[in-house]
Amino acid sequence: MTMDAGMLDERAREILRQNDRGGYTVPTDGLYPYQWNWDSAFAAWGLAQFDLDRAWTEIETLLSGQWPNGMVPHILVHAPDPGYFPGPDVWGTDGHGPVPSSGISQPPVAASFVRRIWDRDRTAGDARVRALYPKLLSWHRWFMEWRSEDGAICITHPWEAGRDNAPDWDGAMAGLDPVDVGAYTRRDTAHVNADMRPTKYDYDRYVWLVQFGKRLGWDEAAMRAQAPFRVADPGRTFILLAAMRDLATLGEAIGEDISQVRRWIAALEDGAATLWNEDLQSYDARDIRTGTFAGCVSNAAFLCWCGGLDDDRMIGQVNRVWNVIRCPVPSHDPESPRFDPRRYWRGPTWAIMNALIGTGMEQAGLGDYAGQLRRDTAELIAANGFAEYFDPTDGTPAGGGSFTWTAAVWLAWASPNAGRG
Ligand code: DGY
Repeated sequence: MTMDAGMLDERAREILRQNDRGGYTVPTDGLYPYQWNWDSAFAAWGLAQFDLDRAWTEIETLLSGQWPNGMVPHILVHAPDPGYFPGPDVWGTDGHGPVPSSGISQPPVAASFVRRIWDRDRTAGDARVRALYPKLLSWHRWFMEWRSEDGAICITHPWEAGRDNAPDWDGAMAGLDPVDVGAYTRRDTAHVNADMRPTKYDYDRYVWLVQFGKRLGWDEAAMRAQAPFRVADPGRTFILLAAMRDLATLGEAIGEDISQVRRWIAALEDGAATLWNEDLQSYDARDIRTGTFAGCVSNAAFLCWCGGLDDDRMIGQVNRVWNVIRCPVPSHDPESPRFDPRRYWRGPTWAIMNALIGTGMEQAGLGDYAGQLRRDTAELIAANGFAEYFDPTDGTPAGGGSFTWTAAVWLAWASPNAGRG
């Protein structure tokens, strides 16, 4: 590999320091000026490679925004910024949580990174794990209470999946009629080329769903009964499964009774099985309102190993998809007519997803695939920088630059010098 890994390591650390706003890290300057939930958990993983104390603080700041019902918002607004839309006023969440925030959550990767950070120094992490454990437990309970459909974990807004404009939601999005959404000004396209971002069609529906939740006062029971958008997501299901297993490890180590966590793991395993689409021969998203599968082989399907499933049925898809694309793993099937290589979650490859897929493959004994994916991701970053995501056909950097989670994944996993823990 023609790269100076040491220089790239230093650049990655510099990005994490530059994006540090004091106790939390923004995903990138400008485009995302607040604390994002899963971005922040990845940031902690990266920070743990050189500043363990700061890594713990990142997670503690994230959990400081937890709502009384257990939900940890997908955005925490520690300091207002007019350069982002929608802000807390649009969400209408005033009074719901201790920090101004959005009204939805995001993929719960935090417990998995807490376990890895703790593994680096269990003595130093002991008191911090003990303080975080009940908060993580209550967040996971919120998922099982309000997002589980027979163990398959749903989203009530595409932003909850973290994979905003994935074709996985196209069917459910087409069922929404955002006619009364009103006028609003997007800010994202002032920072990034519009061809790399969701379309206006998508944005109207995103904003309409925020207005819908606000009208219901973010009442989860009302949302579950009435929300027109409710889709079971393989990504969230597998990520929660992984996080639940890590929570069980943490709980056991500090002497907690983990029997409930074990029951949730069993329920999630049953739920994951309901997301297998036999016709597609892949895990797939399923619209709860209509019962229909999305028909999408997305990168989320390859998280089955990260979820701890011993399942070799996805290997056929790995071989097919990785063979037709230069830089795996594309966020959407490159042989699908909906594949769009630079538009956010409709084709680009994401270092964070590759890290989750790769570490999952490693655990599942698929070391050759995992090693290849790690080297491919390292080359992608070395050649194209620490971009938010990349065109998987030629590696062109896309979205925001100097990106926290790409830097974090470099330090913790992709770099030839990475400890991978
Ligand atoms: C955005 O603003 O694009 C985010 O993905 C929403 O969380």
